[in-house]
Amino acid sequence: MKPINVGLLGIGTVGGGTFTVLQRNCEEITRRAGRPIQIVVVADKNLELAKLVTGGACRITDDAFSVVSDPEVDVVIELIGGYGVAKELVMQAIANGKHVVTANKALLATHGNEIFKAAQDKGVMIGFEAAVAGGIPIIKAVREGLTANRIEWIAGIINGTTNFILSEMRDKGLSFDTVLKEAQRLGYAEADPTFDIEGVDAAHKITLLASLAFGIPVQFDKAYIEGISSLDAVDIKYAEQLGYRIKLLGIARRTPEGIELRVHPTLIPAKRLIANVEGAMNAVLVQGDAVGATLYYGKGAGAEPTASAVIADLVDITRMHTADPENRVPHLAFQPGAMVDLPMLPMSEVTSSYYLRLRVADKTGVLADITRILADQLISIDAVIQKEPADNETEADLIMLTHQTREKCIDAAIAKIEALNVVTGRVTRLRMEELGK
Ligand code: HSE
Repeated sequence: MKPINVGLLGIGTVGGGTFTVLQRNCEEITRRAGRPIQIVVVADKNLELAKLVTGGACRITDDAFSVVSDPEVDVVIELIGGYGVAKELVMQAIANGKHVVTANKALLATHGNEIFKAAQDKGVMIGFEAAVAGGIPIIKAVREGLTANRIEWIAGIINGTTNFILSEMRDKGLSFDTVLKEAQRLGYAEADPTFDIEGVDAAHKITLLASLAFGIPVQFDKAYIEGISSLDAVDIKYAEQLGYRIKLLGIARRTPEGIELRVHPTLIPAKRLIANVEGAMNAVLVQGDAVGATLYYGKGAGAEPTASAVIADLVDITRMHTADPENRVPHLAFQPGAMVDLPMLPMSEVTSSYYLRLRVADKTGVLADITRILADQLISIDAVIQKEPADNETEADLIMLTHQTREKCIDAAIAKIEALNVVTGRVTRLRMEELGK
């Protein structure tokens, strides 16, 4: 049967992996897809690298624009990244009637509505399994496997770099900077590692998952984003003593008031499976009303795990490209005409439990002053520990866990607590999620 012809843009880590896996498993992939899938042209600025990886098995060029208008190409794989030239190439590929597979979460989280609309109008498919959690088929699971459910929430460890950093800091007591360098050396980090550390990469991914889960437009600009760069090792230690692990979570939750879309370091009970996801691994927990909780675990980055997702999209496209576009799986799980514009909750309206760490004078009445402020905001305390002051010190660390409250209430209480004479410096405030039902 006539092969599906693919043009590959970018032969870096994931591009190289895609080339290798397609070649290695070509027989099984053909048996699944129903016809061969072959890369006919590779575009990369580094022609030497392209030559080395392809070994003369296909054409190579340094002109990516020639690939998106190449009449021989049926599907374009975009692995360039970023929103500049990558967006132009994707839009041109769509305009030229090519299907597109991309791992570019930044592009889809920021311009997804425009890109999916253009693809819909042109009747082409956009595959983006590789954009979220690398090799874990989470897009497929949420879009197709859980389609019977009203999805209630998704919480994911969807950035391997930060999970690696948090794991190493907790396990080995290493500093943030040392571990970041190691993560970069191992190739987990984005080209700009601030995207990892500051939670932007996770926010791109949870933005896409929220759209798939709730049938809402892609709204990265509404995501609340807080990374791990100001996380203190002492909080990792205290959290552990209290039976919690700190993870950078992407959370999307449906509430009666609107959708929560947020990324921040989060305390989660150490007994939860997801709390035990260590190193650069990813995991996504999805709560559906019918199925309950389901957990997806695997490698969220790397050459072959990400290639696994890219090729899965290629196989889907190969199977479906002759189908009437109306009868294909919708890009964002819901039919384009059935998307809804639910309100997005500002962080001040989000409900969570909290971990507070304060430096307080070791004096009578201090705890009473603090608990009165919390009570005035109707915040109920779940647990308190006060660490003995170190020798020759008159101040102690006070750690409090609260029950659920709105973020604006805890912030108001913190402002008053920080104004007390007996409290030194800022209050550290971290959110906690039980991740039960
Ligand atoms: N920088 C990302 C991570 C790679 O650390 O998870 C995959 O998106």
